[in-house]
Amino acid sequence: MKDNCPRNREFTVYVPATSANLGPGYDVIGVALDIYNEFHVTMGGTKKLDIEIEGEGADAIPRDENNLIYKSTLAGCKMAGVGVPNIRIHQKNAIPLNRGMGSSATAVLGGLMIAREIAGDRLEADDMISLAIDIEGHPDNLMAAYMGGVVINYKRDGIYRGVKFIPPEPLRAVLVVPDIQVSTKMARELLPDSYKIKDVVSNLGNISLLIHALHTGQYRLLREAMEDTIHQPYRAELIPGFNDVVESAKKSGAWGCAISGSGSTVIAFCSENGNEIAEAMKNAFKKHSVNSVSMITDISDKGACLEVG
Ligand code: HSE
Repeated sequence: MKDNCPRNREFTVYVPATSANLGPGYDVIGVALDIYNEFHVTMGGTKKLDIEIEGEGADAIPRDENNLIYKSTLAGCKMAGVGVPNIRIHQKNAIPLNRGMGSSATAVLGGLMIAREIAGDRLEADDMISLAIDIEGHPDNLMAAYMGGVVINYKRDGIYRGVKFIPPEPLRAVLVVPDIQVSTKMARELLPDSYKIKDVVSNLGNISLLIHALHTGQYRLLREAMEDTIHQPYRAELIPGFNDVVESAKKSGAWGCAISGSGSTVIAFCSENGNEIAEAMKNAFKKHSVNSVSMITDISDKGACLEVG
């Protein structure tokens, strides 16, 4: 082990929520949202590890060596060949857990950004991202959280790469978060091993339309572009009332609507009427005896960042 050389003793890492898939872009598209988890870090105290958590998941997230931020910091430092100093992490979580909004991606990426602050140049950005994807498993959430904006990810020669763009016209995201947790692992196990060619072709058309709509600002195309035939039909059973929630969003003026990641959150895009759309979606859930809360937010242009102090 080389000596560790933290560049700063006290800093805060900000990592945004993300919404993956946007309908047809299963595992290849994600968008960063303007809702951030904050991890305030102080190094060099008297305790090996001291974790304080407030906000989402404060009752559920471990405060010991099993904490995902800390585990990711350890993994990053191990990759870089540096030791981990005594560390205090104060998590301020705004992103609900197990709801398809990239909460675990924030912990993994946040932990690795802490490792990078400790290791300096010994942990290259590309290696950090590859390790983050290895730990977390979902490049669509990870790349969007890291880069910001809308990110298309692909893999070449074993390396994940992302192409980022910012939609040209203002676009708001309405997230309706039902009181139901969905395990991503389970939601992936529901998917078939093979598909009918007509379903694949339908998704190819929709994903092409989706990128075009977001790239050019022709958001009216999102109504059809966010339809999906390869994961949503199988996952809808995990989200009671899903189809009604989508219909109510569209009826009240949303451009388009889909499951956020593997759920249970449902995301709709709009330019105006966000509150009205959120109310309609929550009411549709209520008709299926599901309580929900809503968040209305912008797309985050900048993605994850670190501030000293
Ligand atoms: N693309 C992944 C999935 C995202 O839908 O399973 C998980 O958040």
